[in-house]
Parts: sequence; C-alpha cells; structure tokens
Amino acid sequence: MPVEVTREGAVAVVIVSRPEALNALNTRTNEELLAVVRELSPADAVRVVVLTGGGDKAFVAGADIAEMQGFTAEEARRFAALGQEVMSGIAAAPQPWIAAVNGFALGGGCELALACDIRLASEKAKFGQPEISLGITPGFGGTQRLPRSIGVGWAKYLVLSGRHIRADEALRIGLVQAVYAKDELMPQALKLAGELAAKSPLAMRYCKAAVNAAADTDITTGQGIERDLFALAFASEDQGEGMAAFLEKRAPEFGGR
Ligand code: CAA
Repeated sequence: MPVEVTREGAVAVVIVSRPEALNALNTRTNEELLAVVRELSPADAVRVVVLTGGGDKAFVAGADIAEMQGFTAEEARRFAALGQEVMSGIAAAPQPWIAAVNGFALGGGCELALACDIRLASEKAKFGQPEISLGITPGFGGTQRLPRSIGVGWAKYLVLSGRHIRADEALRIGLVQAVYAKDELMPQALKLAGELAAKSPLAMRYCKAAVNAAADTDITTGQGIERDLFALAFASEDQGEGMAAFLEKRAPEFGGR
C-alpha cells in the first residue's frame, strides 16, 4: 500500500511509501491519500496528524514523472485536480497536519508539505519546485501556496529556477519552522503532535480556520471570521475548562465539546 496509517493515541502518523520511486505521487497514491484525509477528517479521535515519507531518502520526490509522461492535456488537468483536492483536503482538515520532511520534498512533495500546517525538516531534507526543468509548471497548488507562505520573491526564485534548496535555507526563508538531526525528526514531530493533541480540538480547529482565512481574504472579512470563531469558542465547554484551569493553577483537560 503506498499510504500507511498508524495511530499513537490521538495522533495519526501517515506515511507515503513508494520506495521504488522515492515516494512519488501517482494517481493511486493521491487517491489513497485523499481517502485517508477524508477518513481522518470527521474523526474526533484523531487530534493531530504527522505526515512523512517512507524510507530514509525522500519525503516525496514529486508527482510521478513516469505516469505523467504520456498525458494528454485533459489527463494532466484531471491529475492536477486530484492532487489539488488532496492538498486542499489537508489544508481544510479539522485537525493540524505536521509535515515531517525526512528527505527530498520536490515538486508535488514540496506542495504536499506546503499543504500541511507546520513543517519540520531533517538536516538532509531538500526542497524545490523542479517542474520548470521538465518543461511544465507546478500543478498541486505550489504556485498559489508558495507565495502565500514565503512571499512572491522566494516563490519565484524556486519556481523559475527549479533549484533545490537545503533544509537550513528552507528554514531561513520560512518554508520550514524547524530543522532537526535525522534521528531527531520523528521524535520531535511526535513531541509537537502530543503537545497539540492536549489542546482543545475545537479551539485548534477554529485557530487553523482563522489563520487559513488570512491567506484567502481581505483583512476586514478576515477579522469578521476571527470574531465569529472567537465568539463560537465561548459556546464550548473547553473555554470554561481552559479558563477555570488557568485560574485554579492546574492543567486543563479538554473534552472537545
Ligand atoms: N517520479 C517518478 N519516479 C521518480 C521520481 C518521480 N518524481 N523521483 C524519483 N523517481 C525514481 C527514479 O526514476 C529512480 O527510479 P529507477 O531506480 O527505476 O531508475 C528512483 O526513483 C530513484 O531515483 P534516482 O535514481 O533519480 O535517485 P537520485 O538519488 O539519483 O536522485 C532525485 C534523487 C534528485 C530526487 C531525483 O530522483 C529527481 O530529480 N527526481 C525527480 C524530482 C522532480 O522533478 N520532481 C517534480 C516532479 S513534477 C511535479 O511534481 C509536478 C506537480 O507539481 C504536480
């Protein structure tokens, strides 16, 4: 199976695993990823998802070039639509997705990491949008999420040059939030996931939705969305528990209601 899911308490670990192609995303892998996103989305039981690549060389080395080679324009459009549905599904998922980028994150792999909420990388990770060198454009949301994430200048640098950048440079330009030694990446990703899983899942969902809105709307509309979500949080038991726990100097226990 190209997509494996394991559970560690409230945290799900999703592994893209196609060792023969450095975990490249073909139609089947994207279909499986989409099924996993849908399966995890309504589940209150899964509070955080960690996404990584199988093996120790790649996160995801891009969309599958062997499959794409003979595409007609219409097949390419369908392939991009499926990939974009996967990425948008992750971006809109109710729980946070943490990308643990353990190697090459190129093309569709960089776009997959970008769809996640937080990106952690190993020192040996490499990022890039090399589509220009294949005579095509990015197709899984990279031209849209990169400028929103790292600004137009860096987005154009990556998309127009096709250059690969190392993890330290990805950290410098804000493409990733932290870089760890290879063996530390998963422990650190799971540690962060555990911290996030202990927060109110309702407030987590609202926070993610509010920040997502910032990329897609003007500030007046965005602040309206923020006000509504702030108000909605006050309709939850978690708000009562969080504030009571603070005032009583104890750790909160959030039930997600
Ligand atoms: N698609 C299909 N197969 C791939 C692949 C991909 N994206 N990336 C790697 N592979 C395959 C290779 O063909 C090779 O297969 P064989 O053993 O059968 O020859 C195997 O994985 C191992 O790869 P390499 O021998 O090339 O390994 P390397 O260490 O020499 O190089 C690499 C690693 C730099 C990542 C190189 O494999 C590479 O450049 N891969 C392609 C990266 C790329 O261009 N990605 C963008 C794809 S386009 C895209 O993603 C469009 C979009 O937005 C939707």
